[in-house]
Amino acid sequence: METVLLTGGMGYIGSHTAVELLKEGYEVIIADDLSNSSADVLDRIYAITGTKPRFYQVNAADKAQMEPIFKDYPISAVIHFAGFKAVGESVVKPLMYYRNNLDSALTVLELMAKYDVQRFIFSSSATVYGEKNTPPMTEEMPTGGITNPYGWTKYMIEEILKDAAKADQELSVVLLRYFNPIGADESGLIGEKPNGIPNNLMPYIAQVAAGIRDHLNVFGNDYPTPDGTGIRDYIHVTDLARGHVAALRYSRTHAGAEAINLGTGHGVSVLELVHAFEKASGITIPYVIAPRRAGDIPEMYADVSKAERLLHWHAEKSIEDCCRDSWNFQKHAADELRVMRSK
Ligand code: UD1
Repeated sequence: METVLLTGGMGYIGSHTAVELLKEGYEVIIADDLSNSSADVLDRIYAITGTKPRFYQVNAADKAQMEPIFKDYPISAVIHFAGFKAVGESVVKPLMYYRNNLDSALTVLELMAKYDVQRFIFSSSATVYGEKNTPPMTEEMPTGGITNPYGWTKYMIEEILKDAAKADQELSVVLLRYFNPIGADESGLIGEKPNGIPNNLMPYIAQVAAGIRDHLNVFGNDYPTPDGTGIRDYIHVTDLARGHVAALRYSRTHAGAEAINLGTGHGVSVLELVHAFEKASGITIPYVIAPRRAGDIPEMYADVSKAERLLHWHAEKSIEDCCRDSWNFQKHAADELRVMRSK
């Protein structure tokens, strides 16, 4: 069976991908410095799949730390999740974002060249479509025009990878452009755990439902959309994880760099998501209309035909499934905290 290295494999999307790969019988090695995740994710992956992946607490940008992994294992592909991802923080600390995100991608690529590893799957983002394109977003659209350094790191790494694939005919690169991942594994054992106040909509809604925050701020209700609130393409993280399994299979027989959207193809507004969550949880989510958030665009959703055509993959879970599983994870986390405190 193939051995796959997941950098950043302890994080939200990485851990769900590890679960789906293990279920399919892949050998999984995780390299993660735990800068935005915790070691207990490993036990949780084990509880879900019955297998514990090999884990190295290393920084993906550090060649000396990473090289032994390439030396010791017959790695057939790398899925590169490692990277900083907070939009607001990237505006305040741009150099930290460029240094970390670009360095880790370059280090992994150099080691791949040295150890003859030819398949690279990259965690890109729909953010590369910038402000100027009109949805549905297709992979042929020009990228750029991004409003923050985090998004630019995704754009720049895509360009680096395209050049690398041009120069090395054997290299197979898949740029997976994620839309808005939400939800959690059905078990409720792994999910998105933001530090502090969540920036993203779904974790914020879940914390309001759990009583951690008293209301949701809806950023703008005067967008040119049917209910005036922003529209996004929310995709269940398990569907997204399975998209990586499909991309890995595809990369076996493909060379060059290929960008592929991972979304559902359907737009959902902020208020529609709030109401779907209320229905799934039975809890009313109090909200107030707040000013627009700087850098937000009115509408973003994917054209998913390329993923279907090349990967034979499409998202299967509904927005109700997403809400049910996000809530299930939030409740699980609260229960665990109660048990810990009572000990
Ligand atoms: C954001 C990032 C994007 C990143 C993605 C990762 C920005 C501008 N974009 O996408 O680069 O790849 O997260 O998941 O930050 N909303 C509210 N109230 C809230 C939070 C959000 O009304 O408290 C609204 C937003 O205005 C937007 C929608 O909910 O219309 C989704 O927001 P969010 O979850 O932050 O995702 P994006 O902004 O699409």
